[in-house]
Amino acid sequence: MQVHALPGPWAPRHLVGFDLRRRPHLEADVLVIGGGVAGFCAALEAADAGREVLLLAKGSPEESNTAWAQGGIAAVLDPHEAQPNDTVDLHVRDTLAAGVGLCDEVVVRDLLADGARAIACLRRQGCNFDLDDQGAVALAREGGHAARRILHAQGDATGREIARALAQAVERHPGITTIPGAFAIDLLTEGGRVVGALYHRRDELIAALAGATVLATGGCGRVWRETTNPVVATGDGLAMAYRAGAAVADVEFMQFHPTTLYIAGGARLLITEAMRGEGAVLKNHQGERFMPGYHPQADLAPRDVVTRGIISEIRKSGFPHVWLDATHLGAEFLHHRFPTIVQACARFGIDPAKDWLPVHPSAHYHCGGVLTDAQGATTLPGLWAAGEVACTGLHGANRLASNSLLEGLIVGLRAGTAAAAAGGAPGRIRISADRPDPAPEDLDVQDLLRSVRSLMWRQVGIERTANELAMARRSLDFWAQHQARDAFRSPAGWELQNQLTVGALVATAALARTASVGTHTRTDSAGAVDPRHFSLVKP
Ligand code: FAD
Ligand code: SIN
Repeated sequence: MQVHALPGPWAPRHLVGFDLRRRPHLEADVLVIGGGVAGFCAALEAADAGREVLLLAKGSPEESNTAWAQGGIAAVLDPHEAQPNDTVDLHVRDTLAAGVGLCDEVVVRDLLADGARAIACLRRQGCNFDLDDQGAVALAREGGHAARRILHAQGDATGREIARALAQAVERHPGITTIPGAFAIDLLTEGGRVVGALYHRRDELIAALAGATVLATGGCGRVWRETTNPVVATGDGLAMAYRAGAAVADVEFMQFHPTTLYIAGGARLLITEAMRGEGAVLKNHQGERFMPGYHPQADLAPRDVVTRGIISEIRKSGFPHVWLDATHLGAEFLHHRFPTIVQACARFGIDPAKDWLPVHPSAHYHCGGVLTDAQGATTLPGLWAAGEVACTGLHGANRLASNSLLEGLIVGLRAGTAAAAAGGAPGRIRISADRPDPAPEDLDVQDLLRSVRSLMWRQVGIERTANELAMARRSLDFWAQHQARDAFRSPAGWELQNQLTVGALVATAALARTASVGTHTRTDSAGAVDPRHFSLVKP
């Protein structure tokens, strides 16, 4: 399915307008934008290949989707460590089933077969996974997986351990220079080739020039009002790549996680699916289990099915949430296996060993993104993308739980290798400029952002119709055209512009896909699911 370029205010705004001779700039062989699993792996791999790497990250290593990951990382390990009878073929089968026919099967086989090698790399970098009583790696089960194949760390703090180990490895590496607090504004292109990025740090605009650039900026959950994602997940990389002319794909597929803690005014803390994997069950306001009525895998059905089951129960009851009952798992087990969740719930006076948890779905993971191959190469020369910002075809219409850390790890490593091979000192670059007018001083960025996120939740959320999507597009166009059109001078304004762009991309692709599939539910569903893999948006 082809979705034509967004018209009007969405037209790619190339960042020309930058006279390098008068500005500070840095040079490296390889530029990596993003400090999560994908960016760290790309940087380490490129530096191990002897390249000089510059890594930019707007947030701290503790503030990324990677660091917040709970459940774990899915992989079929070498035969002596894997669960008996588990195979890569079974992992492939589960991934294809979750992706509802829209995965790229060649990519799925290729990436999942690389799982054991990639996990071994992670362990070599010092990442420690939990072990069972016999000292073997402990494997958990999550929704949609036919076997226990999820490695986890410190119970439910897998991402924190991965981020710690990789951040330390990056810090130790003499070939990598990390610039924290660096906000990448736009990719720099010359003659259609990406030659680096413009970034902002401490009130200064700086060009980072490189022979190869790896985009690893993560997801865009913050575009929706209800989300599990940290504040950095504003879709900057997706918007930047689109503006620079890269094709993006499958952007209508935002995965809504079924269970986030629902306390008015509180952060939407993820309640990991692994809790259901260990036996916790969803209940409605009559105290009855409802998932067996929606799917044979009941509480462990694929996420889109569980999310729709919850929405249906919420609609029937009129309450804003359903319940997750883990009380039968016992205090000792819950404290040991889910320490992060137990501690976070305690702040609200909730004890999962005694109380049912109020839960509700939230925007969680973006299955679509910048179109890449299985090595992370985008449609733009000089640019690779890896991790949540990218769309390799692994996830199709719905990601299988815990496949994303694995994808970020594998494609991050591969993109690092490819960028190292292609990188090298940037050639002579001449960039000329049109400087846009500054944004009006009286624009209340936070107020407009709240409106954007509410609109995305209401009209481009879990359930969609053509009418609502078209209304959403009109509002987003209006805001982009009249209020957020001009140049901002700070990250908050640039993030707002990026969120408007991502919102418009998602709404446009969702309008074009008229049939329900995977995470994309059209209550006015019409026609058949387009069997072609990608819904492409070409700028
Ligand atoms: P991130 O880890 O999000 O890193 C993005 C980096 O880019 C950050 O350093 C950020 O500061 C930087 N950045 C962004 N924009 C800019 C910019 N403009 N300029 C400079 N830097 C920028 N997946 C699993 O497989 N298993 C799980 O158990 C799991 N649990 C999850 C739990 C939660 C609460 C969440 C939110 C996600 C979870 N996921 C899980 C999904 C998974 O964590 C992410 O998909 C994955 O970590 C993404 O990694 P990444 O490297 O692509 O991006
Ligand atoms: C979870 O722990 O439920 C999240 C896992 C994931 O998003 O893959």
